[in-house]
Amino acid sequence: MKTVCILPGDGIGPEVIDCARRVIEAATDDLEFVAADIGAGAFQRTGRYLPDDTLTTMKGADTCLFGAVTSERSETYDSPVIGFGKEMDLFANVRPVRDFAGVSDSQLDVVIVRENSEGLYTMDEVADDAGVTTRRRVSLRASERIVRHAIVLARSTDREGICCVHKANVLRRSDGLFLKTFSDIMATEAQDLRFSDQLVDSAAARLVSSPSDFDVIVTLNLYGDILSDVASAMAGGLGFAPSGNIGPSHSVFEPAHGSAPDIAGRGIANPTAAILAGSMMLGHIGMASEAKAIYRAVFEAYATGNKTVDIGGAQGSSKFTEAVISKLNVQKTSLEGTNR
Ligand code: NAI
Ligand code: MG
Repeated sequence: MKTVCILPGDGIGPEVIDCARRVIEAATDDLEFVAADIGAGAFQRTGRYLPDDTLTTMKGADTCLFGAVTSERSETYDSPVIGFGKEMDLFANVRPVRDFAGVSDSQLDVVIVRENSEGLYTMDEVADDAGVTTRRRVSLRASERIVRHAIVLARSTDREGICCVHKANVLRRSDGLFLKTFSDIMATEAQDLRFSDQLVDSAAARLVSSPSDFDVIVTLNLYGDILSDVASAMAGGLGFAPSGNIGPSHSVFEPAHGSAPDIAGRGIANPTAAILAGSMMLGHIGMASEAKAIYRAVFEAYATGNKTVDIGGAQGSSKFTEAVISKLNVQKTSLEGTNR
């Protein structure tokens, strides 16, 4: 039996992760869950945002499902998200975003594959008397790894094309290296896929004005973070974007949103992103049919008029989760009918 490490975290993290777990448990009995502490709650108890035993539990599990943490605005804050990403070599951040019937019809169906190990997210900042310098690393190895990850993902999900998003007109050497790596690998290893590239500023505009132009996007860390929030806003809001952090031996799935302190504790967070992150997680650990069943259940829940509070509906986290579970149960019953 496979083991999932559950990391609820702070704010709405525990609320949406509880919903995701209920849906996963309705889809399969074949998983064991272990819980671990992360974020501000963990800090209060242990003095660490990412305690050592949490990291050990994460590494020991087959995969992890994480909610969100509230970060502290201080110069010494050590982000636990960046911490586990580094410790577990989670070099790819994959964010699929698409429309759900009844929520939006922007013609959006994009997967953003974001380099997750370097760029501007290494928190490497040096202050002097006049200001602060932030170092931003782009390496050949990380660029190759993320491009190859995007190719595997595009092929395995029947996608036709990959667009490299960059700012190589200004950051000629760093983004230039990323773009050249992309172009070389696509031309030599992926002739079955269409490929193109676009500057990040115009890509952001095009994502909004002509979303169906995009299929898979491969991009650097900061651009991927921002573009995926733009995409999720088009799909209905931050409550709609799941995310997978993937490495050679470990993986952590999470909603792309944060801990949303403004709505925490009210039972109104949209659990969709967390539930879809659970679906991605099951797909990643070889439970493709359960993953699809969950995805379809969420889709059908929206298509039949269920609406969460963030998109103007009346359903809180729990009520919407119940709607998804009832769609799952309908699928199970009809499957049993066909098997008979
Ligand atoms: P946020 O994603 O937490 O919230 C932004 C806005 O979207 C808020 O108005 C919030 O209510 C709304 N929202 C987010 N998720 C929602 C959901 N599931 N349903 C309904 N509405 C939702 O981003 P924000 O406010 O910038 O950050 C809050 C905290 O979360 C900060 O401490 C930030 O550092 C942290 N954060 C943590 C992340 C993580 O743990 N991976 C990722 C992003 C932010
Ligand atoms: Mg973000």
